Amino acid sequence: MKQLIYRSQPFGFDNSTLAGILIQARRNNRRDDITGALICRHDVYVQLIEGPAGAIDALYARILEDDRHAEVCLALSETVEERMFPEWEMLDDELPTLTWSPAEIADGAIEKASPEELRAVFHRIADKARAGASGP
Ligand SMILES: Cc1cc2nc3c(=O)[nH]c(=O)nc-3n(C[C@H](O)[C@H](O)[C@H](O)COP(=O)(O)O)c2cc1C
Repeated sequence: MKQLIYRSQPFGFDNSTLAGILIQARRNNRRDDITGALICRHDVYVQLIEGPAGAIDALYARILEDDRHAEVCLALSETVEERMFPEWEMLDDELPTLTWSPAEIADGAIEKASPEELRAVFHRIADKARAGASGP
């Protein structure tokens, strides 16, 4: 199974754009056996997607072409044994568990973060979701 994390710059960020992305993501991901989480803020998206390698490659190719964001930048791509978000077609984290301020994001904090730091951020989101979930 493949797991990938990228960051990007939202373009035209508002509630309805975000809702549209999440509806589309959840519908497609259920079909494609993909799970993950999307950190969404006016100044940054950071997304973790995981699933069969072919499906992940196809999704990332679509994401690269999407004009609802720009400057898509791959942060991490690896083979994993276990999913981090097995119960979530696409969890959204809108009150980010991110430790970075907007100024740090603008200054490239995510590009500078190590794969371990990024993975740790998503682990915190997964733990929080499991603790607070009443179901997917
Ligand atoms: C930040 C962001 C995250 C996205 N995440 C997903 C996703 O997890 N799954 C997905 O299928 N599409 C996702 N998309 C949308 C894709 O870029 C693309 O528009 C969509 O997959 C095409 O779906 P369609 O064939 O149903 O039109 C995302 C787009 C953005 C901007």
